[in-house]
Amino acid sequence: MSIVYKLAPSILAADFSRLGEQLNELSEAGADYVHIDVMDGMFVPNISMGIPVIRSIRPCTELFFDVHLMIEEPERYVRRFVEAGANNVTVHLEACDDMDKTLREIERCKAQASISINPDTDVKDVYPYLDRVKMILLMSVYPGYGGQKLIDSVLEKAKTLRQYITDNSLDVDIEMDGGIKLDNLDTVIESGVNVVVAGTGVFRGDIASNVKAFKEHMHNKS
Ligand code: DX5
Ligand code: ZN
Repeated sequence: MSIVYKLAPSILAADFSRLGEQLNELSEAGADYVHIDVMDGMFVPNISMGIPVIRSIRPCTELFFDVHLMIEEPERYVRRFVEAGANNVTVHLEACDDMDKTLREIERCKAQASISINPDTDVKDVYPYLDRVKMILLMSVYPGYGGQKLIDSVLEKAKTLRQYITDNSLDVDIEMDGGIKLDNLDTVIESGVNVVVAGTGVFRGDIASNVKAFKEHMHNKS
């Protein structure tokens, strides 16, 4: 099964006073997803954005909304995020008391389901769900803030997960999120990651040239 590489800029690092304009810049430069970091101040020590923001930016772009729910008991809000425009809903294994129930809710809402794990969570903990999700999001920082340094040990988790997916002929993307810049992108891709989240690496400086540089690196690897 051929691997398709995708870039998912995280708008946590965007200028919220010009969000619609910057979404157009992302789209025109060739970004694949918009990574939308939702934080509740409980599951992570920060509060970012929620349903009204997604609803207001949905008409601005055709780009795929990759919504990353860093919230406790996310099944309570899945339907409202999908109705606001989420295409993918990523929930944290550590935040769900009943993952089967949460995945059923995402399936009922006809959105793409994904699971995220924090740096300290064992990658084997997601194996039981790989036949029910499209993507596993490996956090390469402790979630809550952009601009942190990538935790190298997560690269080993990506290699282990990619090997398991290949050995079991599964169709599951591996997304990595946190601390990814142009200077460590090749290492990230070589670990088996095919969906790359980048916040400050895209939004600091010239957005279009940053997106194009990430996409060029990924193309050269594919
Ligand atoms: C952190 C978020 C990440 C973050 C990435 O909790 O989930 O998506 O915005 O930002 P950078 O790429 O700057 O580390
Ligand atoms: Zn994220």
